[in-house]
Formats: sequence, C-alpha cells, structure tokens
Amino acid sequence: MPTPIVVIGSLNYDLVACGPRIPVVGETLVGRRFFEEPGGKGANQAYAAARLGGRVKMLGRVGDDIYGRRMRDNLAAAGCDVSGLLEIRDCTSGIALIFVGDDGANSIIIVPGANDRFLPADVAAQAEALAGAGIVLLQLENPLETVAAAALAARRAGARVVLDPAPARALPDHLLAAVDVLTPNETEAAILAGRPPARLAPAEAEPIARELRRRGAGAVVVKLGEQGCLLDAGGAPQLLPAPRVAAVDTTAAGDVFNAALAVGLSEGLDLAGACRFANRAAALSVTRLGAQACAPARGEVESFAAGA
Ligand code: ATP
Ligand code: RIB
Repeated sequence: MPTPIVVIGSLNYDLVACGPRIPVVGETLVGRRFFEEPGGKGANQAYAAARLGGRVKMLGRVGDDIYGRRMRDNLAAAGCDVSGLLEIRDCTSGIALIFVGDDGANSIIIVPGANDRFLPADVAAQAEALAGAGIVLLQLENPLETVAAAALAARRAGARVVLDPAPARALPDHLLAAVDVLTPNETEAAILAGRPPARLAPAEAEPIARELRRRGAGAVVVKLGEQGCLLDAGGAPQLLPAPRVAAVDTTAAGDVFNAALAVGLSEGLDLAGACRFANRAAALSVTRLGAQACAPARGEVESFAAGA
C-alpha cells in the first residue's frame, strides 16, 4: 500500500498566451492561442501525483472567487482530498500570467493573492493532516516562513520532505536541514549557489548539489530539462537521462517530475528508481500544453516505459 502524500503549497489560476516566442522588453507580439486552466506549483504537483496513482491530500489557500472554486473542483476530480483547501474571504485567488513560445519555453508572472495568506500558524492549525503522511511536497509560492514551518511539522510527523525550491530564491540553511530531497531546476540551482541564473551542464550541477548537501539537504536532484536529472544522495552523483521527446510546452514539467518522484518514493522505490519514473512522467508532460492538462495518467507512463 503506498504511503499518503501531502502537498502543502500554492494554487494559481493560469492565463496562458501562446505565440511565436516570448516577447522582449517593450515588444508586442500577436499570439496564436489563449487558454486558461487551474495551475500553481502546489496544485500541479497534487493533481499530477493523483493522476499517477498517489493517495494525495492538499493544504492551501484560495480566494473567494470563481477561480478558487474551479481550482478546488479540478483537484477533487483527479481524486485529491481537498478538505485542507480553505477559502479566504475578500481575497483574490493566485493568478499566473504565462507566455509560451513555439519552442515550448515559457515565462511567468504570478500574483500570489490568497497563497500569501497561508501563514505558519495555519500549518500548525492543520498539523493533524500530516498524521500518517509518507511524503510531504513543498514549493516556494507561499511565504518562506510557512514553507519552513511546514517542513518542520512534516519532519515531526515522520514524513520525508521534498522541497521544490521554485520560484528561485536564496534559502536559509535551517530550512535546507529540514529537507530530505531538494529538487532545483538549473536556474534555481545556480541561484541557490549565489550564481547568475544559467543553464547548467551536469558537470556544473555536481559541485552545486554537493554544496547544497553540505548546507543540510539530505539529497539533491537537479532537474536538467531535456538532459534529465542529476542525483546526488551522498555517493557518486548519477546522471539519469530523460527520454527523447518533441517538447511542445515545458510549463509544469518540474511539477510533474516532483509528483512522480513522490509517487515512486511512496511506493517504495529508491531515489534513483523514483527519479527514472519522474523523468518518464515529466518527458511525457512536455509533449502537451498546459500545467495540469499535461499531467500523464499512470497507464500512459507505464506504456511509455514499455515502448522506450
Ligand atoms: P517548470 O518550471 O517549467 O515546471 P522546470 O524548469 O522546473 O520546469 P525542467 O528542468 O525544465 O524543470 O524539467 C523537469 C524535468 O522534465 C526534467 O528533469 C526532465 O525529466 C523533463 N523534461 C523537461 N524538458 C524535457 C524535454 N525537452 N525532453 C524530455 N524531458 C524533459
Ligand atoms: O510550474 C508551473 C506553474 O508555475 C504554473 O502553473 C503557474 O501557476 C506557476 O505557479
């Protein structure tokens, strides 16, 4: 029986414009397509984990608007327990404005709304939701003190803490020390190391992962886009390649990766096995548009693995 997964994190309603490329400063482009859908890193991870067969509960905050209700309904339809999602009165839900270019790359501005009203005391008030949790998934779209409180509460409850340090920001060592698996992408890894955001070769990711472990993280998985991921769990670092696919939209690839990582761990896979499963699920996700719409079902990942 897989152990339960609890996601403590953000929900944003995504408004997405697809165009030939992402505009430069001051430029106006004519887009090819617009769509809207539930998103947010926390909700994307919860939704994708449920689609992959995880037993998922989410704690988070939405505004008292139509977006909040749609986001809750979408998670519930995927099979998530949404009893820990609370509505804040007179507050807007989180919103994300997303541009997607023809090459699948994206750029995003988020307006946190209710996500910023999820406070450390709220985590304490909902701590009973962590009883029996095997894995707790965290991201950085809520206040940093809330994320730190959630990591400590998860540790106290005996769960493994997986932190996706996105959107990128510097992190204190006391938070890293409460994290079992830290999963930066390339730019987040660079920023955590105090370097300008940049794409990284696996050889450049290795010393950063080592340093993040020295600062307290139990293991580090650097997500390297089409290169797959680099796993440093204390022994020799392993580069685990992603399957080759034609990318259409990389939005939420990192979220699907973390969701699959959690599902793999909750089913008893070791970290390398869970990373391989996550590479397959995330590679499938980039072949589709959207943040939650792109999340593959368990059977799709299994057929993909069998054909790979
Ligand atoms: P996002 O912020 O858009 O959610 P991310 O930048 O956090 O994503 P990436 O490193 O781009 O994360 O991708 C996460 C994972 O998705 C990779 O580790 C890999 O497994 C898979 N992936 C991403 N892009 C591709 C691709 N072009 N081909 C195959 N797999 C990919
Ligand atoms: O990781 C993708 C997500 O980032 C989007 O759904 C958007 O809401 C932002 O939070």
